[in-house]
Amino acid sequence: MSFRLQPTPPARPNRCQLFGPGSNTKLFAKMAASAADVINLDLEDSVAPSDKDTARQNVIEAINTIDWGTKTLSVRINSLDTPYWYRDVVDLLENAGDRLDMIMIPKVGCAADVYAVDALVTAVERAKGRTKPIALEVIIESAAGIAHVEEIAASSPRLQAMSLGAADFAASMGMQTTGIGGTQENYYMLHEGQKYWSDPWHLAQTAIVAACRTHGIMPVDGPFGDFSDDDGCRAQARRSATLGMVGKWAIHPKQIAISNEVFTPSDEAVSEAHEILAAMETAKANGEGATVYKGRLVDIASIKQAEVIVRQSEMIAAS
Ligand code: COA
Ligand code: MG
Repeated sequence: MSFRLQPTPPARPNRCQLFGPGSNTKLFAKMAASAADVINLDLEDSVAPSDKDTARQNVIEAINTIDWGTKTLSVRINSLDTPYWYRDVVDLLENAGDRLDMIMIPKVGCAADVYAVDALVTAVERAKGRTKPIALEVIIESAAGIAHVEEIAASSPRLQAMSLGAADFAASMGMQTTGIGGTQENYYMLHEGQKYWSDPWHLAQTAIVAACRTHGIMPVDGPFGDFSDDDGCRAQARRSATLGMVGKWAIHPKQIAISNEVFTPSDEAVSEAHEILAAMETAKANGEGATVYKGRLVDIASIKQAEVIVRQSEMIAAS
């Protein structure tokens, strides 16, 4: 319970974040032409150590020369346990123009990790007289990250989004998995000889959503590694949307349409939400706090649920 109003996250679409390695320049124009809301140029784990310097230069040049349209443009820097991250931040902010919107910090384990990057970003911004503040997004992908998820969500006014990175998370937790997200063969309940699979990512996702909603940050589902499995990817995205996440990464262009489909409220859902709001208006006029809609109870909480759907669809339509 709290007297404080829950803050609303930034009003920009974040249904799909498309990744591409900073070392693979031939992908950049294709990424810019894609239907993803957010582009993440990667300097971290899709770039080999010997390519780090070249990838950084490629990414700076791409930010400055490619037409990225109205997309949110983000660069994933290297994690704070590497020798690369400070130069990622300094070179980007000294040499990339104002088209750069966001820096993504991977493997965040505590609020101080974000504080450190914020301090460096702030210093370079001031030194260079940059007028557009760079936003931050983080990946929760370790045991420490999930243990400290709430303080991380509260760590900086620059923070806009938080993603679950399933593969590194699984490794850090010591989970017996090799897949990147999705159903895990051995995670089942047995009932009368029948296997029922459940969702090993549920706790991490829900913890991220709760931390994000508390602090006005967007919760995002990370990668689904098997890009040949459209149905598996869609199922994972649907579970995430049901839990309150606003979007999902794509690591291959095939996955963009799936995210856009799942994280855009359907026309049916939007008109039902409008009907629920109208039914509640009528109930209110009659002095009632609850009423019946299509044979089921709707009450004041239903107004808030319906408003989430209407707000999402309006924001996507306006983008
Ligand atoms: N963004 C935009 N276009 C992409 C793309 C991406 N991330 N990945 C592939 N494409 C393009 C290819 O260039 C190809 O284009 P073409 O038809 O003009 O030749 C087309 O989509 C089909 O690609 P495909 O041949 O199926 O894949 P690939 O073997 O070229 O690449 C990967 C597969 C996984 C190596 C590649 O998709 C990739 O690098 N993904 C991003 C990885 C990443 O960033 N990881 C970090 C976050 S987890
Ligand atoms: Mg990772």
